[in-house]
Amino acid sequence: MSFDFVTPVERKNTASLKWQRYEQQDVIPMWVADMDLTSPPVVQEALSKAVAAGVFGYGEVPQGLNQAFIDWCASQYNWQVEKDWLVWIPGVVPGFNLAVEAWLKPEQGLLVQSPVYPPIRVLGQLRKRPTLDMPVNTSKLASYLKPETSALVLCNPQNPLGKVYSRKELEKLADMAEENNLLVISDDIWSDLILEPGLRHVPYASVSETAAQHSVTLMAPSKTFNIAGLSCAVAVIPNPELRASYRKKMRGLMPDMNYLGLVAAQAAWQGGHDWLAALKVHLNANLAILEDWLKDFPQIGYQRPQATFVAWLDVSALQLTNPIQAFLDGGVALSPGEAYGKNSHVRLNFGCSATQLQQALQRMAKVLYNEGVIN
Ligand SMILES: Cc1ncc(COP(=O)(O)O)c(C=O)c1O
Repeated sequence: MSFDFVTPVERKNTASLKWQRYEQQDVIPMWVADMDLTSPPVVQEALSKAVAAGVFGYGEVPQGLNQAFIDWCASQYNWQVEKDWLVWIPGVVPGFNLAVEAWLKPEQGLLVQSPVYPPIRVLGQLRKRPTLDMPVNTSKLASYLKPETSALVLCNPQNPLGKVYSRKELEKLADMAEENNLLVISDDIWSDLILEPGLRHVPYASVSETAAQHSVTLMAPSKTFNIAGLSCAVAVIPNPELRASYRKKMRGLMPDMNYLGLVAAQAAWQGGHDWLAALKVHLNANLAILEDWLKDFPQIGYQRPQATFVAWLDVSALQLTNPIQAFLDGGVALSPGEAYGKNSHVRLNFGCSATQLQQALQRMAKVLYNEGVIN
């Protein structure tokens, strides 16, 4: 079966976060991490049916959704998840904020990776907990710990680097967490978008029973199937005490699940396998386009992401005063590295059609020629 990753999608004037910001300008938005591609046909069909029925009352997680997620974890990650472990939540970001509130006393601190997805980067500040930066490479992690450090926030696969943690790395991390009495909050939102052939996602909680018992794994169909606007995610918490305190903290703060989000998630996990396989082929082809373009700009630092649909580009050697502004003036919106903890970089979202990517890269090349970076 073939899927359409070619036909342009019109997202101007559609209440889209990515497109609305620059709606009045001639700007191609390549920043926030959703894709300018339509969702799988199975998802569109399930949503069309729900919309046609015309009733949008309160939602409740159907048994079919629990089972679809359990089956997905078994088939995709070889991870046997139990229904009782699941706490459905409207998003991964509220999910990790809630974990901190539920499990950490005010004086207890966090370890977060750097660079990292901005809402993880500001998590300690937002929740008023002491925070330490740690390197994404975890081998020397124990040396970063302080007595008050009580939780480690993992992003696997890692945004913005696209790094996929190996089972070995996670096992070491689990030993270190156990020895130091750390809880692990693992944001696995990118788990399905592993682009490097031969690599497979390993959930932190799947490496051992002890890892399962001191962690929460946050997952969602939102990045994978481009349904971030439908607010559906799940916290997997095998430890009953941690789960009970998490649920207790949710009361009155978390809204009911979005009805259409439940419909879309179930359809995606039940029937989105072939579409996802095709998407990954498409994203790898886009990476090839990007890498071809980069040949003309060897000054730009780049390492092929093993996962995600974002590329992390080191533009410091271009010596632009303000790279984000320069590219924006040239008609391309990128994410500023500063928000991730590294102002030498910009992040480019390549989750779009090849044509859109090529147009954005042409504009970026023009900026670099005009700036005299290349003659
Ligand atoms: C690492 C990471 N976590 C979480 C999110 C967003 O999660 P949600 O929209 O479910 O709150 C993103 C979105 O880009 C992300 O990259």
